[in-house]
Amino acid sequence: MDWLTVVSDGTERRIPITPGLSVRDMLVKARLPVRSACRGNGACGLCLVQVEAGLVNERTRSERLVLSPEQRELNIRLACQLLPEGDLRVRIINPAEESNWREIPPAHLRCMPSQLASESDWGEAEDWLLILEQLTSVSLRGT
Ligand code: FES
Repeated sequence: MDWLTVVSDGTERRIPITPGLSVRDMLVKARLPVRSACRGNGACGLCLVQVEAGLVNERTRSERLVLSPEQRELNIRLACQLLPEGDLRVRIINPAEESNWREIPPAHLRCMPSQLASESDWGEAEDWLLILEQLTSVSLRGT
């Protein structure tokens, strides 16, 4: 079995490599998330890691577009594009901040989309859209 060694904030952790998964996906699975805004599509350029040792795939087209020459020189890669080809050691350059987001229990929701079946419910939804439009100055009803 091959191992991914992850250095972040002065700590080091080893996780088993899952063949076919990107480094980003393995980090998320191990609850060591790296910043990301494109769900691993190679577009946001946030999921930066530095390869310290090990064999990996060639830089992808996304990486050639997103990474600066200096970053490439420092062996910095996009975790979402990085596929280990054996044991690998990376340093997380851009860790994700801990989120305070929690799922809202259904009982606390005033109105579920599945409950918007009758005309009167849509009337209430229209009221909410109107309020949102007034707050954001954005047309949400396709007028
Ligand atoms: S997650 Fe956006 S570039 Fe990797």
